[in-house]
Formats: sequence, C-alpha cells, structure tokens
Amino acid sequence: MAFPQAFMDELTARNDIVDVVGSYVTLTSKSGSFWGCCPFHNEKTPSFHVLQDKQIYYCFGCKKGGGVVNFIMEEENLSFPEAVRFLAKRVNMEVPEDNTDREASRYRQRLLELNRDAARYYYQLLQGREGEGVRAYLEKRRISRSTAVKFGMGASADSWDSLLLAMTKKGYSKKELLDAGLVVQNKNGGLYDKFRNRLMLPVIDTRGDVVAFGSRVLDKSEPKYMNSSETPVYSKRRVLYGLNLAKKTKRPNIILCEGNLDIVTLHQAGFDNAVASMGTALTPEQVRLLSRFTKELVLCYDNDNAGKIATERALQILNNSEFSVKVLQLPKRLVDGEYIKQDADDFIKFQGPDAFERLLSGSENGVEFRMAQIAAKHDLQNDEARIAYCAEISELLATLGGAVEREVYTVRAAEVAKIGTDAMKVEVQRAIKRKNAKERRAELRRDLNPSMSLQPKERSLRYENMRSARAEEGLLRLLLLDESLFDTQAPPREEEFSSPLLGRAFALLWQAHLEGHAVSLHLLSGELTSEEMSHITFVSQQPESVRNAPKALSDYIKIIRNEANKRAGDDTDPLLAATEKYKNKLGGKQL
Ligand code: UTP
Ligand code: MN
Repeated sequence: MAFPQAFMDELTARNDIVDVVGSYVTLTSKSGSFWGCCPFHNEKTPSFHVLQDKQIYYCFGCKKGGGVVNFIMEEENLSFPEAVRFLAKRVNMEVPEDNTDREASRYRQRLLELNRDAARYYYQLLQGREGEGVRAYLEKRRISRSTAVKFGMGASADSWDSLLLAMTKKGYSKKELLDAGLVVQNKNGGLYDKFRNRLMLPVIDTRGDVVAFGSRVLDKSEPKYMNSSETPVYSKRRVLYGLNLAKKTKRPNIILCEGNLDIVTLHQAGFDNAVASMGTALTPEQVRLLSRFTKELVLCYDNDNAGKIATERALQILNNSEFSVKVLQLPKRLVDGEYIKQDADDFIKFQGPDAFERLLSGSENGVEFRMAQIAAKHDLQNDEARIAYCAEISELLATLGGAVEREVYTVRAAEVAKIGTDAMKVEVQRAIKRKNAKERRAELRRDLNPSMSLQPKERSLRYENMRSARAEEGLLRLLLLDESLFDTQAPPREEEFSSPLLGRAFALLWQAHLEGHAVSLHLLSGELTSEEMSHITFVSQQPESVRNAPKALSDYIKIIRNEANKRAGDDTDPLLAATEKYKNKLGGKQL
C-alpha cells in the first residue's frame, strides 16, 4: 500500500463520505441512508445510494461503487494517489511522502519532458531542410505558419532513427522512449522511430503538457493518421485534441468534430472553440472534462453514415445531462452531378467562415436532429408512410422527460405528418405505456433470474463457479461485519477461492486484519480497478445476518473447500460433476 495505513484511516475518517459526495450531488436522507441522482450516468430518478455507516456509495443504475477515495477518483478524473492528495488538502492534512509513489510521479514527469523535447525536435525539423515536404503539405492544406506554430506542429524525418538518436543524445533511455510510445521495437529487439515522414500534431492537455502525438501522412498511403498508443501519461478516453486552446475561447459553446485538421482549420477561421476526439466515439470521461469549461456543446460530425452513428451515440451519452446540445449538419457538396460529404475543413475551404457561422447559429438541437432523421426515412406524401412515421416518431417522443418539451415536439411532429395534434398525442401516450411495460418486464426478468443479476457486470470478472462464489462473497461480508468471528475458524487460502477477484480482495483485507488494522473497504481503494471496486462494493452491500454468523461462516468455508477440492482432484465422479454444474447454473440457490 502506497500510503501508511494510519494516515489512510485518519484521512477517510475526516472525509466523511456523506460530506464529500454531498458537495457534488444533492443527497436526500431516507431511513438512515442517502439517495441522489448518480453523477456517473445520466438519470432523473435517484438510484445513487450512500451508506454512512459503511462509508460507501453504490449506484444501482450504472453499478459503480466504492469508498470516498474511489468517488473522488471517478468524479475528479484522478489516479489513486492524486485522489488521496485531493482529500488530504480538503481537510488540511499533511501527506506522508512515499517512495514508490514519488517515483511513479517522477517517472511520469520524465515522460512528459521527453514528449516536450520530442515536440521541440519535430518543430525544429519542420523549420529546416527536412521539413520541406511537410511545409509544402501545410501550404496545400492552406494552414498558415502562425496556425502551425499555435498548434506546435512539427515534422518527423524520413528516417528510421532520427528521433531515437536525438533523444538518446539528450539522455533519454530506451525504456523511456518505448514507454512514451515514440519508438517501437522490432522482432529482433531493435528500436526504430514510430513516426516517420509525417506531419506531427502534438496532443496537449488542459494543463499544457504534451501527452501524445497525432500524425498525418503527406500522400495517400495508409494509415492516414497514426496516433500515440496509450502510455502512462496518455489515455485517449480522457483527452480532446485542441481543448488546451478551446478552453480559453470567448464563444459560448464548444464544437466537437471528428478530425484533427478540422480543428486546425476551424481555429484558423476564428472558431477557437473547436475540439476533436481524434477518431473515437465521445466518451463519458471527455464529457466530464468538457463540463469544466462549457455547458453548451455543438456536435459537428461528418454528414455520412458513420458520422450520424457517432452523433446518435454522443446524443445518448449527453441525454438528460446538464449540457444543452446542438447538432450542426454540414450540407453535402455537389461535385460533377454527385453529392459528396464534406467535413468542417472542406466546408470552410469551399464556403468560407461566414457560411459556417450561419450553420452554427442555425444548428438544431438533439431532438430536432433525430426527428429530421426519422422524417427523412419516410416519404410523407403517402398514407402508409405517414402512419409508419407517426409510429416511429412517437417512440422518440416517448423518451422525452419534460412534459413541455414533449408537447412542443408532439405538435411539430403532427404538423410534419399532417395529422391532428390529438391523434399524435394519443400515439405518444401509447408509446409511453409500451415503454414502461417493457421496462417492467425487463426488471421482472432480472428478478426471476438471480444468477444473472448476481454476476459481476464486468465480463472479465464473471464467476466460474457460482456456488463457491456465493460462499466467497459471504465470507468477505462476514469479515467486514465482524472480524472476531474468524478467531476460532481460519479462512480458506486465496488459491482456494474460485473467483480471483474475491480471493484477492479477501486476502488483502485478511492481511490488514493480521497486521492489526480495522478491516474496511477503504483498504482496497488503491489496489483494485474501478470495475473491481464497484463489484466488491455491491457484494458488501448484500444482506448478511449477524445472528447466524458463526454457523454461516462454517458453511461458507465448507463449500469453498469442497469446491476447491473438486477442482483440484481428477477423481471427480462425472455424474456428480454434472449435477454440480447444473446447481451452479441455478445460481447456488441452495445456499
Ligand atoms: P478522417 O478520415 O475523416 O480524416 O478521420 P480527416 O480528419 O478528414 O483528415 P484529412 O482531412 O484527410 O486530413 C477523422 C479522424 O479520425 C482519426 C484522426 O484523428 C482523424 O483526424 N483517424 C483517421 C485515425 O486515427 N486513423 C486513421 O487512419 C484515420
Ligand atoms: Mn478532412
């Protein structure tokens, strides 16, 4: 554990989970526990639960959970040690220095320095003889020198080891170069530059650190764009290209595009509020990052199928969020009698910034975009198509939460279909009923199939042996409930657990117990991933009776040992094994 336990105990004691969560989420107290709307997914009815006695939170909707440190990690986008520091600062506690932790952060700092030096190197190459090709390319794309400088653009040399040599000379090691993703290793162990003969686009985070590189070829070869892989300083889910500049914009919103060079062109044309997610779908992490800078987003994805899917997915993530969302649709362009899609870069080039400004101010909101998508699918001249349109549009209108909003768009849909408003309203009401019934059925299915609902949400954590796993869960709960139960009964060894996660969690808590610490979920915060922690939190919350605890404990231990022996021995009776398998399928109901 990176921090001394005594320090962690004091830290978690002084940062009461209800206080901490309460400063982000409005919590209402209900019979001893607290409920609110989950900050990690969008919802209107509270399924986010905070338990003060156990000092944990758990969301029944998105199934995220953990202790106070996990909450800050999720909410503030921080690593474990960063979240600990954050909470220490909150209550004016001094953080004891820890060597491994300090080393990790020093190493990250070192990689950031390397990235910066690499960016400088590429920048210099761009100015010299080696940069001729890239300079010509920039000219062709009509990217000015000052724009190139603003984005810190550079050129990589047409060579296998130019960066490798330059950075080695500056004192960086092979390991550092590999870890930063700037060089790659071939089968024989030889190293070579990852980026060669490309336009280099440093990816700079909102703190101003160069965390990665994007790059583009100068001709038509593949891959067109090549980006840094994930590194200790770069997680692409958490970064947006151009946000380092866009965060300073005076414009009221932020425009989200697909491509790096769209951003460059937009900034050059005066739209300094554009950012790109670099070819990936918008992530919840990016949404949270954006919320620090704006409350209004404009989606400006390509006007083709892929772009529409990306728009739809982004709208889903942003649905019911605090953001107001608009969709800017780029018109297709007529070339030789054929309409072809254009991205923001093309549009600015052919139609100019003023036309883009008009599109921006006229862009539709998310509902209008979806309604238009549906209208475009049906030929509204024909009766059958109008009926089909009404059926489909009422499904969409049924998902709208606000009564006024629903009314406004219901009226509009009726106009489009040329039918009476009342008839449309009836359709929408029916769709709402259908939707509710469907949700109830899904819930019922979950209730009737406990073994499914007991499996961890994360696929990789799924239980192999449900019977043993249920006992392992019980064991974990009993340890959290009352350590003294174990005074007379020794627990199974970690290898005897069928679920590696439950085994590891138990072993960590058990170790802490042996060292004389109070056993609590906090001990796991720094050791488990967010998914693992969420599942353990779920497990810890399930009911466990104190009254029968000693008996339950010996039953659990017996089951775990039996199942472990069965796994170990080859002498298993095949008939018995088949029955066991069947029982496991039933979700260990006999427990
Ligand atoms: P596009 O293929 O739409 O390219 O990729 P673009 O942005 O219009 O590029 P130009 O105008 O030809 O230069 C959109 C984005 O998807 C990512 C890049 O971030 C790109 O900007 N991408 C694309 C990749 O990461 N790899 C690829 O091979 C292609
Ligand atoms: Mn383009």
